[in-house]
Amino acid sequence: MSEPTTPVFSVRDLWKVFGPGADRIPGSEHAALPSTELRERTGCTAAVRNVSFDVDKGEVFVVMGLSGSGKSTLVRCLTRLIEPTSGTLAIDGEDVLAMDRTRLRELRRHRAAMVFQHFGLLPHRTVLDNVAYGLEIQGLGKAERRARAAELVEKVGLGGLEDRRPAQLSGGQQQRVGLARALAVDPSVLLFDEPFSALDPLIRREMQDEVVRLHREEGRTMVFITHDLSEALRLGTRIALMRDGEIVQLGTPEEIVGSPADDYVRAFVRDVPREQVLTVATAMRPPSAGEGDHGPALRPEATVSEAIEAVARSGDPVARVMKDGRLVGVVDHACLLDVVAGTGAQAVTV
Ligand SMILES: Nc1ncnc2c1ncn2[C@@H]1O[C@H](COP(=O)(O)OP(=O)(O)OP(=O)(O)O)[C@@H](O)[C@H]1O
Ligand SMILES: [Mg+2]
Repeated sequence: MSEPTTPVFSVRDLWKVFGPGADRIPGSEHAALPSTELRERTGCTAAVRNVSFDVDKGEVFVVMGLSGSGKSTLVRCLTRLIEPTSGTLAIDGEDVLAMDRTRLRELRRHRAAMVFQHFGLLPHRTVLDNVAYGLEIQGLGKAERRARAAELVEKVGLGGLEDRRPAQLSGGQQQRVGLARALAVDPSVLLFDEPFSALDPLIRREMQDEVVRLHREEGRTMVFITHDLSEALRLGTRIALMRDGEIVQLGTPEEIVGSPADDYVRAFVRDVPREQVLTVATAMRPPSAGEGDHGPALRPEATVSEAIEAVARSGDPVARVMKDGRLVGVVDHACLLDVVAGTGAQAVTV
């Protein structure tokens, strides 16, 4: 095990209530009312209800849920773009609710950069100057910020387009500029509010790959809002599934798909191809005599779909699951198919 590190965000019992007398709602007899009833009785909307979670360093923390479930409100509370009604909130161990205006400005400029759905680019500035903008407000000198901006333009795949203006770019290219601008200040966490939902599916896929690449290459911490399940499953280290202001389940994609917490989550993940999400760590069983010294070798985190392919290709009925050169289990057709059908064992910790 590695040393426990301070979470990037630590959120406890967070509430955001909109409406008259909002601060009297958390902890009151009205707190548990369903949203429609709460609105009828008090005129208030509880957009975020008693939510607690940590965002760990280096993870992509996805917030998912239907429209109106409280995703944007929750993420905006993290930097107090929306003022929480009650609860506690820390970034890198520092109390966000105790920050004064200067400290908050610093937080939003340097530590938690936001990437929006509608790009928010400055129309009269070039690509390079849009990216350099965040560095300008940080007070960096011109030559230095242009050099740094050029590096980032290159990094997000826009090399050669430095002098264009936003109107001369496609939606995907504009969002890359937004991404480069957010990265320019080297924030400890990137916050994305449905950044790709305005893009067509192919470009969207490309942008998802970009996020995966950034995460893999730089280990950057990200909080990513989406209402698209396949996007959540592709990007998320963990996913918080929201309904009516609450987090109904928080877990890895594999936990959400493999062990949905209730009927709501089950309905959400019903159409997911399980073999592409569940791993051989979930499917494997202990080896019996004579097994474990032959057959293809797989990593515990390989997907069931990869395992099915490996077993089929090898002609050997049993594949070995190896971790750090050690045999931790085996998989065969039966246990792989059990997991796909939902009748298999629950996740085993390796
Ligand atoms: N300023 C506000 N005043 C009153 N109610 C608000 C305000 N902002 C949001 N709400 C309500 O809070 C709830 C959560 O809204 P929020 O924008 O966080 O949802 P969301 O999950 O981001 O939805 P979407 O997927 O449509 O973006 C909704 O019922 C919304 O109407
Ligand atoms: Mg939203």
